[in-house]
Amino acid sequence: MIKEHTTMTRKILVTSALPYANGSIHLGHMVEHIQTDIWVRFQKMRGHECYYCCADDTHGTPVMLAAQKQGIAPEDMIARVREEHLADFSGFGIGYDNYYSTHSPENKAYSEKIYRALKANGKIESRTIEQLFDPEKNMFLPDRFVKGECPKCHAKDQYGDNCEVCGTTYAPTDLINPYSAISGATPVLKESEHFFFKLGDCIDYLQEWTAGSTTLADGRVQPHLQPEALNKMKEWLVPDENGEGGLSDWDISRDAPYFGFEIPDAPGKYFYVWLDAPVGYMASFKNLCERIGVDFDEFFKADSEAELYHFIGKDILYFHALFWPAMLKFSGHRAPTGVFAHGFLTVDGQKMSKSRGTFITAGSYLEQKLNPEWMRYYIAAKLGSRIEDIDLNLQDFIARVNSDLVGKYVNIAARASGFIAKRFEGRLKDVSHSALLAQLAAQSETIAADYENREYARALRDIMALADAVNEYVDANKPWDLAK
Ligand code: 2FM
Ligand code: ZN
Repeated sequence: MIKEHTTMTRKILVTSALPYANGSIHLGHMVEHIQTDIWVRFQKMRGHECYYCCADDTHGTPVMLAAQKQGIAPEDMIARVREEHLADFSGFGIGYDNYYSTHSPENKAYSEKIYRALKANGKIESRTIEQLFDPEKNMFLPDRFVKGECPKCHAKDQYGDNCEVCGTTYAPTDLINPYSAISGATPVLKESEHFFFKLGDCIDYLQEWTAGSTTLADGRVQPHLQPEALNKMKEWLVPDENGEGGLSDWDISRDAPYFGFEIPDAPGKYFYVWLDAPVGYMASFKNLCERIGVDFDEFFKADSEAELYHFIGKDILYFHALFWPAMLKFSGHRAPTGVFAHGFLTVDGQKMSKSRGTFITAGSYLEQKLNPEWMRYYIAAKLGSRIEDIDLNLQDFIARVNSDLVGKYVNIAARASGFIAKRFEGRLKDVSHSALLAQLAAQSETIAADYENREYARALRDIMALADAVNEYVDANKPWDLAK
């Protein structure tokens, strides 16, 4: 008999990082959304009340400039890109409960609400800073939009934040002969008032939260961060020689022209895209709640017992493990239950690259009529709970799909379906007392625990071993002979 597992119903909200609205979905995104989708499907199959929310990340200078380049309004560009992203994700079977946009009324409302609460809590400060300004375009230049000669190795055409030749990091004002990457003009220094989130004031809380865990209603202890992430945090959180926290205040404002939300009571100042992006998780969920009648506050109030998980790439840990928990906590909300980071996807051992032809977009994979289940399987077969890069080796991809999916798993159905259809009208006898089925069922809780802990590679190894056992059973019993 297959044992039914009995536990209480958990309330779980799960997110994947919000893709930027100025680029295509590639297989790197797909790793994350497949990882999340598998986990969500698992939770739903266990009977939990689980919601999966995502959205496009629509604000910021790169989106604004991309729309300008296309000669269209940013609103039109993000609407078109959202359709493309949705087609790609649904093509790969990703089952969001809501896929929304950060350019939404809900996101504006929650961004303002959080900002006002942080301000009331003494966590926002304004300061005048000097920044490089493009006198032709009449706009301040983000670091990536200033280029020039590296002050260390003198390589030409380096970005304003670091040199790709010698790896030095510096301020854009350190560049020799700087120029605007937008207009080519020589930038000038200009003063402007900016708003800062006083992250340094949150250090005690962040030290506690990053090293902490939440005891779930079923008694399991969920660490907020993976061990590797916690180590990174310790590096970032260590006090400096003056005994001050290693965290600097975070500049959350940008000057017009900027595509985003204007900051309340600060005309011409906009929320930096990374302020409203994670709020987009809330906004997407709020939009869903209104549509299907779920109590939003149950999930986001300070003492919420619901679980909140963010699946992200390791490159955006800083935002999700420091800024976001602090924003939530000091605006009177709950913090995440867990932030699950994954590594990067390499193709044949190297970073995906357009020039090497290994930059694979989701759209191009689907256009080739490659089955998305192959990629879902391959990625799952490589994923574990740790922050490790995973490699898509194209030869291995073909071999794994052929040997496991086709040769083992599908093979079971392929061998049986013919004679079952031909001789037994497609009906199976009651097999609930079979020893083989008991052998499979005996593993179900181990496999479930692996899914719960995001050890998909291990779960699939066990599942494929069971597929082997079933194939051996079929070999030994030759049902096609018996059928005669
Ligand atoms: O790194 C990125 O692609 C961002 N667009 C992720 C945002 S995640 C969340 F915070 F919105
Ligand atoms: Zn250099």
